[in-house]
Amino acid sequence: MIKIVTVIGARPQIIKAAALSRAIKNKFSDKIKEVIIHTGQHYDENMSQVFFDELGIPAPDYNLGVGSGSHGVQTAKMLEGIEEILLKEKPDYLVVYGDTNSTLAGAIAASKIHIPIVHIEAGLRSFNKAMPEEINRICCDHCSTMLFSPTSTGYKNLINEGFSPNNEKPFNIDNPGIYHCGDVMYDNSLYFGSTANSKQPIAKSNYILCTIHRNNNTDEPDRLKSIVDALIKISEEKDIIIPLHPRTKKLLDVNIDLETYNTFINRSSIHIIEPVSFLEMISLEKNAELVITDSGGVQKEAYFFKKPCIIIRSETEWKEIVEVGAALIADADKDKIIEGYYHFKDNRIEEFPEIFGDGKAAEFICNELISNN
Ligand code: UD1
Ligand code: UDP
Repeated sequence: MIKIVTVIGARPQIIKAAALSRAIKNKFSDKIKEVIIHTGQHYDENMSQVFFDELGIPAPDYNLGVGSGSHGVQTAKMLEGIEEILLKEKPDYLVVYGDTNSTLAGAIAASKIHIPIVHIEAGLRSFNKAMPEEINRICCDHCSTMLFSPTSTGYKNLINEGFSPNNEKPFNIDNPGIYHCGDVMYDNSLYFGSTANSKQPIAKSNYILCTIHRNNNTDEPDRLKSIVDALIKISEEKDIIIPLHPRTKKLLDVNIDLETYNTFINRSSIHIIEPVSFLEMISLEKNAELVITDSGGVQKEAYFFKKPCIIIRSETEWKEIVEVGAALIADADKDKIIEGYYHFKDNRIEEFPEIFGDGKAAEFICNELISNN
């Protein structure tokens, strides 16, 4: 029996972890035992607990309850808590997802006490080190033992950074194994896609779905204002539904002028709602005409559900979706966002080639963990 400790903390990681937990429960329960640490990075009911309830993820064995804070404070608290648990649990592997501070803390804690790290969603790069996530993912990849990339771009990025595709098992931190295995988020979207259909949709159709939470968009007033101005303009033609991230909610009236703020929140075609559950979210994605987002996960889910997407960032780690024409990068540029809206209004995207695997990434990962042991 292999023992893994999974570290999660932020909303998208809880969702991603559902795929591996499900695979373990359904197919590998006699071979893999999972212990879950929730760092407490996200803690509102609708940013955390709702996903455990809805997606059938086992309750965390530990919750560090670190809450919000500066990068240093938050990561340090996590590091201390995770190290203590790892010393007690003595797992065969530590599993981390993506690129948040919870990912980084897990990776640093485990690598220093020689617990092999499994990084799921490895190799993604924005090539923008001003992003906290870029630092987190580079550090995590370079102290990992098994690196599972969802896309061929991610896999190639790892090779470009010196990882060898020719290493042989058993892998270890100095002889790491890299894989291109598909995306656990795609596993989830396939698995939960039909359930979401049977739920009462929270909106019918003929709307745009928008999410905003990236730190430079929320914290830089000019960028936030430019995005909001674009949404106000587009809302003259279309309804826009915005499940608002708590980070953005807290900064909206601080970082944009009162007049714009009042127009934004009072416009009848702009529906600002609380963060929704995963099933509600994918139902919103499936029924939307267009997605406007700075979220990594929401960009991909738009693609899974064959919806065009305007990316309100200056770059993306998921460059394939831009290359095939299903998404475009508008940054926080009001004119480009509006142009993007007209572009997709006038040009229907028909082709969504398979980029993210076959929906069995989690099973693949479990099999590789077992065979490396
Ligand atoms: C974090 C990740 C980001 C990921 C995002 C997913 C890092 C550095 N960033 O960003 O990569 O895309 O999660 O959503 O790890 N807050 C609440 N309630 C909560 C959680 C947060 O009110 O349950 C508020 C707090 O004011 C907090 C702010 O949101 O200070 C930011 O939270 P934090 O976890 O630090 O970063 P995110 O912006 O959520
Ligand atoms: N999501 C959700 N409810 C919401 C907004 C997003 O369930 O109100 C889901 C979304 O479907 C995706 C994930 O959260 O699976 C993306 O997380 P987020 O945008 O917070 O972070 P990122 O992917 O950018 O790291």
